[in-house]
Amino acid sequence: MQQTNELTALDRAFVSDPWSVYQRLRAAGPVQRAVLARGAQVWLVAGHEQARALLADDRLSTDYFGVRALLPGAAGPYESTLSAHMLNTDPPAHTRLRALVDQAFTARTVARLRPRIEQVADELLDRLPPDGPADLIEDYAFPLPATVICELLGVPAADRNDFRRWSKAIVSSVPPDVARESTRSVSAYLTALIDAKRVSPAHDLLSDLIHQTSGDGTLWPDELVRMAFLLLVAGLEKMVSLIGNGVLALLQHPRELARLQAEPGLMPAAVEEFLRYQGAIHIATVRFTTEPVRVAGTVIPADELVLISLLAANRDRDRYADPDVLDLSRRPEGHLAFGHGVHYCVGAPLARLEGQIAIGRLLARFPNLALAGPPGNLHWRGSLLVRSLSSLPVTLG
Ligand code: HEM
Repeated sequence: MQQTNELTALDRAFVSDPWSVYQRLRAAGPVQRAVLARGAQVWLVAGHEQARALLADDRLSTDYFGVRALLPGAAGPYESTLSAHMLNTDPPAHTRLRALVDQAFTARTVARLRPRIEQVADELLDRLPPDGPADLIEDYAFPLPATVICELLGVPAADRNDFRRWSKAIVSSVPPDVARESTRSVSAYLTALIDAKRVSPAHDLLSDLIHQTSGDGTLWPDELVRMAFLLLVAGLEKMVSLIGNGVLALLQHPRELARLQAEPGLMPAAVEEFLRYQGAIHIATVRFTTEPVRVAGTVIPADELVLISLLAANRDRDRYADPDVLDLSRRPEGHLAFGHGVHYCVGAPLARLEGQIAIGRLLARFPNLALAGPPGNLHWRGSLLVRSLSSLPVTLG
């Protein structure tokens, strides 16, 4: 494999249009050097085979303190130890934490949520103006998963708007002091909520986690706050993207939209294809090598930061035929939108169910749904992590 001499800049322009960069990199090879906006040099992995292998390679670590030590100025989310959660923890500590939440998100457990998710979706759709334009992100893709995850965890309804504000700020490119303030607010809020549930438990996941006492199952107060933060922010922001990106993909492919409307039973397969075509996560959690790792003929030395692009891997033409085409009859087996290996998304069954219901109910209610402006006017939020539109103006017809 060859290395380009030029470092790929992972800046605002890259976030807005990663596809042209990936097209250029495709010719250069699946593993390249790149530079973050704040100047740190990293390795960018864009090939499917290499991404899959590295996600499951235990010589790569997501450990919060290890990544933080390698990031100059401990940028962004690594400023706060709130991010020292399960996703940024290696086995065996990870294994213990994961076992505590696995049961809450099995396909069987989340299937029980179906009637409530349908009800929330329908209530939100009732409130959309049938004759006027709507912002699908603000009016639907955000409040639906916000309600679901807050109810699941036991965050009171009255506090949900605060939560939306904080989590948006944490994953968007807002000035660092705004992000810092949001992280502080979220931390203080969750600490108080957990203290309250310790005294008066309710029927929710947070109360269950607080009162789990068997074996290794007791979470320390800090661990609880971080877990609650991970579940809330993970559960919320990625769902917003799945719904927004899925609807956008359909509106840009009218034939596929018509096909899905004619055959609603295609929905589970369609959601997999939305995830492959333009999933919710652009780049997986930052990892670093704990020893030299050879990949596609290149040796990445120890203690180097590695960024694995799930977006690029899912459009690798060595893996998928015509990867830039949305094809609802494709069975995109092995897509990496939910990651791979020990950190494989714990919320995948919930995400699939919620995505199918959200998009299914929307299309059934508004069969003439259309973009309210040219696609060129759409704006992607400035995050390397979440691939998400700031807004999605539509007419409901
Ligand atoms: C479309 C929606 C979603 C997508 C695309 C998605 C994607 C991912 C990915 C790619 C990872 C692994 C990251 C890595 O290895 O670097 C992950 C981990 C995780 N996801 Fe999701 N996710 C989604 C929804 C959810 C939901 C609804 C929840 C539920 C609360 C959730 C909770 C988590 C948690 C807790 C982890 C960390 C797992 C671990 O470290 O063992 N996600 N997700």
